[in-house]
Amino acid sequence: MNAPAKTEDFAASIPAGVFAETVLSVQHYTDRLFRFRMTRPAGFRFRSGEFAMIGLMVGDKPIYRAYSIASPAWDEELEFFSIKVPDGPLTSHLQAIKPGDTVLMRKKPTGTLVLDALTPGKRLYMFSTGTGIAPFASLIRDPETYEKFEDVILTHTCRDVAELKYGQDLVEEIRNDDMLSEIVGNKLRLYSTVTREDYPFKGRITDLIENGKLFSDLGVPPLNPEIDRGMICGSAAMLKDTKELLEKAGMQEGANNKPSEFVIERAFVG
Ligand code: A2P
Repeated sequence: MNAPAKTEDFAASIPAGVFAETVLSVQHYTDRLFRFRMTRPAGFRFRSGEFAMIGLMVGDKPIYRAYSIASPAWDEELEFFSIKVPDGPLTSHLQAIKPGDTVLMRKKPTGTLVLDALTPGKRLYMFSTGTGIAPFASLIRDPETYEKFEDVILTHTCRDVAELKYGQDLVEEIRNDDMLSEIVGNKLRLYSTVTREDYPFKGRITDLIENGKLFSDLGVPPLNPEIDRGMICGSAAMLKDTKELLEKAGMQEGANNKPSEFVIERAFVG
């Protein structure tokens, strides 16, 4: 009789009005980064690039943090890419989840890194550092991205090479997927750089924009507000510095209710 009683206790402890989903898989990349996939609640709708509040019961209290949904809107499952903060109120517990465990999710997704917040353009830049790649993991798997843009450039900058693997695997998965590879064709390019280790592509994305190396490496002209659009996701400092460079190039920040040339969102941690 112990097992049912425990299940009932657990069910009773789940806060009302939130989804309680089941972890399906967990993959650890480094001692700082991991991804997990979980069930998607029936009727849960979101736009690729949005975030949701993800949580766990810690003791008898739920703890939530904002997480970009890394899977595309059409996916039957939900994917998240997370940092592990040793003393993080949520991630110190979340990093220990295993298949079969329960993860909480608040019902309303939101966010500005959505295609609707950009005016039409030709080339879409997605600038990311660290776990800031998560919303773009969603968007690069969404066919709408390629209906709206003919050239999609995802930049991912991390401290070291091992941290690039999530993004590199993702692009490989797209290339190996019959349906997605047909939609994506050769429109998607991943530009990965590291800042604290040797690698063919080195440096902060801000420096590479400023000195023009990003553009010469890709064989594209410098930023042009008439054809280029941007999305930025990273730490507060990275957002500020990248935003300044885009503004210097004559691009304006947009929002859901006022689409423009670029949008930003903080990569959340904790
Ligand atoms: P750096 O190694 O020079 O600090 P983190 O894991 O700390 O979030 O950092 C992810 C990546 O973002 C690192 O490569 C880091 O470079 C880079 N970064 C940190 N601050 C900025 C900034 N203000 N502008 C651009 N890149 C940044």
